[in-house]
Amino acid sequence: MNRELILKALIDWNFWYKNQFTGYPRDDYVKKVLSVISSWYVASILGVKRAGKSTILNQVAKKLIESGIDPFDIFIINFEDGRLTSVQNVEDLFKLYEIYLEIRRRKDTKPYVFLDEIQRVNGWEGFVRSLIDRKEAFVIVSGSTSDLINENVRKKLAGRHVIINVYPLSFKEFLDFKGLSLRNETDLIAKEPEIKAYFNEYLSYGGFPGIVNSNVKEQLLLSLYEDILTKDVIASCKIKEVDKLRILSLYYISNTGNRVKLRNISRQLQIPLRTVQRFTQCLIRAKLLYFVNPLSPNLSIMSRAERKVYVVDQGLANVIGYRLNSNFGSLLENLVFIELVRRYGEENIFYYRGKKGEVDFVIKERNSVREAYQVTYYLNEREYKGVKELLKWDIPTIFLTFDEEGEVKINGKSLKIMKVWKWLLSV
Ligand SMILES: Nc1ncnc2c1ncn2[C@@H]1O[C@H](COP(=O)(O)OP(=O)(O)O)[C@@H](O)[C@H]1O
Ligand SMILES: [Mg+2]
Repeated sequence: MNRELILKALIDWNFWYKNQFTGYPRDDYVKKVLSVISSWYVASILGVKRAGKSTILNQVAKKLIESGIDPFDIFIINFEDGRLTSVQNVEDLFKLYEIYLEIRRRKDTKPYVFLDEIQRVNGWEGFVRSLIDRKEAFVIVSGSTSDLINENVRKKLAGRHVIINVYPLSFKEFLDFKGLSLRNETDLIAKEPEIKAYFNEYLSYGGFPGIVNSNVKEQLLLSLYEDILTKDVIASCKIKEVDKLRILSLYYISNTGNRVKLRNISRQLQIPLRTVQRFTQCLIRAKLLYFVNPLSPNLSIMSRAERKVYVVDQGLANVIGYRLNSNFGSLLENLVFIELVRRYGEENIFYYRGKKGEVDFVIKERNSVREAYQVTYYLNEREYKGVKELLKWDIPTIFLTFDEEGEVKINGKSLKIMKVWKWLLSV
């Protein structure tokens, strides 16, 4: 290890001699992180590249400093930094930490250790476990692939870490970034035209924090997609057949909200099934794609049936995907899906695959079904079939549309119709 190079890197990432970029506040995440570490759990921050994880780490640091913590008690290090390639395993990590401990000013306090993109260091979980078991430091780790919580990590940190998923901006956060704050219902009514204009922008370009206030959104989304593919899919998964991976990824992104069958994809794209399976796993690990399992007519999970695919951000789906007709309906559905993931967790979301029709999203909680959502640009009777089947189970179902609201009577029951943007702001 080159000590001077490392010290330079440490100075660059930390608040010791200068401020770091903290951007617009994302307080919900910051609060969550602080509450996790203050009870001596490791906070594991996981989310697609450029969702804003590193910035949230800086926000946490800033909050701590504002509350009186010495900046030298906070140790932030980002392993994407090329100067840190010599830190490869857990021994190197201990050495790095020793260097930090030497330059710390106070010795009677507990340091805060932020390890960003830590999944690059083999066996890091051993280092973290030793810090947390001895209550020697508060620890936050972050990463942009599910490798952050792989099997080794889960074993080593069992019962000691809490996973915090970070997503691109929710519509509420998006409006914050635009400087539009909504304090109450009157604000919502008075500012409706503005909100709707912003909603159209959000629908087309999504919520990646680095994009929303830029005027070159398409270019930025293209480069962001490139970045995710090259670093978090191709390199991280050691993929050699890059062209095939690209074709497959593009296929999925162009098919958001559609049912997909790996066997058919394999045939259609002429990629061997095993390769399709492996590459699909890599795309999921990079938190770029999500797959949703169906519930059968008797509401049991059909884990081997056709899944539906969604993208982590509707802006990516719109700009990257190829579409024959501009398809705001599927962007709307994609956007609702990601919001449901934020609210309920991806493991609780299914679609209903009935005998005659489908319902887009069904939320399961433990063993019961909580509610269902049918998403449609315009309300129309075609969307009723699946809903009718679900009604016999007495599951509250809401229609989410672009611009209609009210109620509709189906089989003698009254169902709510909501505008998506109002629903997004309703919690
Ligand atoms: N809270 C924020 N306010 C303003 N811009 C942000 C914010 N969070 C992220 N960004 C922008 O998005 C880019 C990517 O954010 P970053 O925190 O580096 O993401 P990640 O660590 O998840 O890859 C940043 O360079 C910045 O331009
Ligand atoms: Mg980062």
